[in-house]
Amino acid sequence: MNRSGELLLHSASSLGHTVDLLFISLLAISGLVALAVATLIVFFAVKYRRGSEADRSNPPMQVRWIEIAWTATPLAIFMGLFVWSSVVFSEFYRPPENSMRIHVLAKQWMWKVEHENGRREIDELHVPLGQPVELLMTSQDVIHSFFVPAFRVKQDVLPARYTSLWFTPTRVGRFNLFCAEYCGNDHATMRGSVVVMYPAEFAQWLAAGPDRATLAARGFDIYRRAGCSGCHEAGSTVRAPDLHGIYGRPVQLDDDRHVTADDTYLRDAILEPDKHVVAGYPAAMPSYQGQLDEDDLIALLAYMKAGTDIPQ
Ligand code: CUA
Repeated sequence: MNRSGELLLHSASSLGHTVDLLFISLLAISGLVALAVATLIVFFAVKYRRGSEADRSNPPMQVRWIEIAWTATPLAIFMGLFVWSSVVFSEFYRPPENSMRIHVLAKQWMWKVEHENGRREIDELHVPLGQPVELLMTSQDVIHSFFVPAFRVKQDVLPARYTSLWFTPTRVGRFNLFCAEYCGNDHATMRGSVVVMYPAEFAQWLAAGPDRATLAARGFDIYRRAGCSGCHEAGSTVRAPDLHGIYGRPVQLDDDRHVTADDTYLRDAILEPDKHVVAGYPAAMPSYQGQLDEDDLIALLAYMKAGTDIPQ
């Protein structure tokens, strides 16, 4: 377990050091500015104290270069920090292509995790060392926040929408996972751990779970059971968009908007079909609100992402 003091010692993810460098620089620059201001306050307070011999005649009223310098210098420094932090920030929203996708479902007051092969866990997240991991997260009730201090990552987890987060673990061990958004009575107990394992060990762990269908296979099952296949398969009497390879593709809507078929779009298309009607198709899709739960949606998304061939 990591001790509380570890927050500033070692980071355990690939982006951790960039965050630390930024944080320490920000702290150092702010500290230097604060120190300079405090020093000048004390210096002038002593020099111009009442009764001192200091020269008070002819005070400079307008020295243009000083005015420009003390405005432009801090501006340049803090704009530099702004640009730097924007670059770091944007890194956090660009998961590498080879990321391993894991689903996280937050609820009062636990973290439910589901791996692509169907293995599930609660309040624990097992990941392999050195492998970029992308978490696709949503909440079953209120707003939570997924926070792993050792990885320097934190992301709100919201109901009715997906947020994501990625990291590459760089140290083996067990790291604290906290909920960082007040979410009701037991918010403080909504914690868990991220367990980073060597890849071979992780593969063993992943395969060792109770034998269950993969997420995509469960999604395919729901696709048939919920009746999606009745309209979306080729040859059906109702004309509905073909879902083969839909995931990540651009979609043109009947109000001339172009969207990408990402997780949030597909989720909306299932629960609130009238929100986005695909160009050239009738608005015939019924809403599945209340019929599919978050777990079902996760499975359906995994199935659509896998492509719509029958998964093994
Ligand atoms: Cu969940 Cu705080």
